[in-house]
Amino acid sequence: MSAQVLDGAAIAALIRVEARLDCERLRARGAKPRLAVVLVGNNPASEIYVRSKIKACAEVGIESEKLTPEEGISTAELVEVVESLNAREDVDGILVQLPLPKQVETRQVLERLAPEKDVDGLHPANLGRLLSGRAGLAPCTPAGILQILKRSRIELAGREAVVVGRSELVGKPAALLLLAENATVTLCHSRTRDLAAVCRRADILVAAMGKPALIGREYLRPGVVVVDVGTNRLSARSDVEKYFPGDAARLAEWERRGSTLIGDVDPRASREFAAAYTPVPGGVGPLTVAMLMSNTLTAARARRGLAASV
Ligand code: GUN
Repeated sequence: MSAQVLDGAAIAALIRVEARLDCERLRARGAKPRLAVVLVGNNPASEIYVRSKIKACAEVGIESEKLTPEEGISTAELVEVVESLNAREDVDGILVQLPLPKQVETRQVLERLAPEKDVDGLHPANLGRLLSGRAGLAPCTPAGILQILKRSRIELAGREAVVVGRSELVGKPAALLLLAENATVTLCHSRTRDLAAVCRRADILVAAMGKPALIGREYLRPGVVVVDVGTNRLSARSDVEKYFPGDAARLAEWERRGSTLIGDVDPRASREFAAAYTPVPGGVGPLTVAMLMSNTLTAARARRGLAASV
C-alpha cells in the first residue's frame, strides 16, 4: 500500500476560506480586524515569510501593516515599538518576525507583547495556557500540525507521539498540543540517546530539528504518520538525485534555482514506511500562515467580547 500524502496546502487553503467567512461576519458587525507585523532588518527568508503573511491578510479581509525597524535597533527601542502597538485600539494582532538580530533580547521583546494581541502565541501567558490545556492563542506552526492531523482524521488519543526538536516555536508547543489530545508524548532533542530507537516507537512522528533528511529508514516504524516540519535547502545535485531518485520535477527545479527544499525526514523513507506523511514543500509550511489568520480573528473576537461563532 502506498503512503498517503497529507496535503497541507489544501488544508491551509480551506482554513483560509473559513477565515475569510469569519472575517466577513466580523466586518458585518463593524469590526475591522487588523494585524501589525514587525520585521526587523533585512533577513531574506523573513522578508519572504512576511510578504506571504501580508498577502494572506489581504485575501482574508484582515487589514495589515508592516513596520520595518532598522537592523541595529536595541531591545529597548523594539520594546517601545511593541508597546505603541499594544496601546493602539485599531490593532488586534501583533507579530514580531523571528529571528531577531543578535543584539536584541528576543524574550524581553516577546514578554512585552499584550498577551491578547500575541497572535504568535509566544508570550508566557499564552504558553502557560497551553501548558494548562486551556484554549487560547497557540503558536501557529504547532497549531497547524494539529489541524493537519485532526482534519485528516488521524487518531491521537492513546497513541505514541514522538516529537524531535525542542524549540519554543515548534517542538515544545507541539508536544503540549499533542498531550492535550491525550497522545502519549515523548519530546526528543540533540542529547537524546539512541534517537532512532525512540522514534521507532512512534505512531505519530513530528520532526522539527532543522537537520536535512536526518530521519531515515531506521527511525520509522512501518505504518507511522510522519509530520515533517523541516525546510532545508539541498544544493548539491548529487543529493537531489540521491533523495529524489527519478523525480524529474525536482531536478528541473534544482536546475532553475540551484537548490530544492527537503525536510528533516528522508522522503524515500516516508514513502516506503509511513502510512501517511506531510511533503516538503506543501505540508506543514502553508499552515503557519493559515493559523496566523485564524489566530488574528480569534484575537479580534476576544478583544470585542464576541463568541467563537461570530
Ligand atoms: N520565524 C519562523 N517561523 C516563525 C513564526 O511562526 N513566527 C514568527 N514570529 N517568526 C517566525
